[in-house]
This record gives sequence, C-alpha cells and structure tokens, in this order.
Amino acid sequence: MKKFFLPFVLALFVFTMQAQDINLLPPEKTGGKPFFETINERRSERTFMKREMPLQTLSNLLWVANGFNRPDKRTAPTGSNKQEMELYVVCDTGVYFYDAKQHLLKFIAQGDFKVALGQSHISNYAAVSIIMVADLDKSSIESARMSAGYISQNIYLFAASEELGTVARGSFNQNDLPKVLQLKSNQAVILAQPVGYLK
Ligand SMILES: Cc1cc2nc3c(=O)[nH]c(=O)nc-3n(C[C@H](O)[C@H](O)[C@H](O)COP(=O)(O)O)c2cc1C
Repeated sequence: MKKFFLPFVLALFVFTMQAQDINLLPPEKTGGKPFFETINERRSERTFMKREMPLQTLSNLLWVANGFNRPDKRTAPTGSNKQEMELYVVCDTGVYFYDAKQHLLKFIAQGDFKVALGQSHISNYAAVSIIMVADLDKSSIESARMSAGYISQNIYLFAASEELGTVARGSFNQNDLPKVLQLKSNQAVILAQPVGYLK
C-alpha cells in the first residue's frame, strides 16, 4: 500500500507545471549553513543537472529572494522602501508571477519559453529561472538596477546555503522576454537568474 502512496505524495510536493495559480508553502525561516560558510561558498555556477525543484525549496528561494519578512518590508532593501522589484519564474513548461504578499505563484502562460532567456547551455538545465522586473513608475532604472543586485545576492546566498547553483545574467533576449512575461510598458527586465542542481 505504502509503495503506491509514496509517489503520489511526492508528486504533490515537487514543483510541476500547472496551468493555474500555485500556493507556495510557508518559507522555512530556520536552518541553512552558517553565514560565514555560506558567503565563502558564494559563486556563479553555469552547469546544472536537470532535476525538478521541490515546492518547499522553490517557496524558500522566492521568499529569500524578495519575500516579505515584515508586514510592509522585504528580505531585499529598496530606496525609500519603494519596492519597485517583482519576480517572475520561468520553468520548463510555463511562466508565473511571484505574488510576494500572498506568497503564491500566479499563472501567466503555459509553454516552453526558455529560448527568450538566451544562453541555452545554462537556461535549459536550470530547474527554474528567476526574472527580476522593475516597475519604472515607482523608481528610476538606476535604483532598480541596484535593488536587483540585492535580490540577486539573496539568491546567491540561498544557493550557496542549499548547495544549488546559480548565476546572475544580464544577457537575455531583450525583445522576447518582456513579451513572454506579458509586461506592461512601465515594466523592465533588469536581471535573470537561473537556479539549478549542481552536477
Ligand atoms: C550584473 C551582472 C550580470 C551578469 N551577467 C552574466 C551573464 O549574462 N552570463 C553569465 O554567464 N554570467 C553573468 N554574470 C556573472 C559574472 O560573470 C560573475 O559574477 C563573475 O564572473 C564573477 O564570478 P563569481 O560570481 O563566481 O564570483 C553577471 C554578473 C552580474 C553581477
């Protein structure tokens, strides 16, 4: 009986594409490697082994990157707390918006859009790619670029702590990626950051 039940339970907890909003799991706010070990291991990695990411890991990753750690403030700082940055998630079969306030993934579109990420030797093997998008009605592009740096470093430190690989990527298809994410004219992609399993 247990033999048949286990795969079903596991399937519930691995992040798999669904053409609907996905409730993330509450982030785990304890644990991880000690800080000095983590910073010592922070690095860019570009070679990944294809593997699905557990929903708990994705939930933790997004919260660490740019979630709310206080009622009105986030894990990454922004000038005058303007909170101009939001995250999108591109996986093998679709695209989502990370609604940080509700801690859920809002479904945007189904399909394989990884070509818009460029650098296929990295993007095709990552479990997910996090896309940092600025609302330019809230801040200047210069501030947004700085804010993206903090989010990026949060992702780097999470990856180092969890023995995942990641790399900040300023190079992506600037025409196609905003279309894939269905951005409005006031929104701009600042950075992309794939996260994957190390070989
Ligand atoms: C703003 C920014 C943009 C980057 N863009 C890319 C990129 O498009 N492709 C890539 O492979 N690495 C990219 N990188 C990663 C750098 O190449 C990497 O951080 C640098 O070589 C230092 O290596 P380290 O992160 O392991 O210390 C980028 C890094 C930053 C901060």
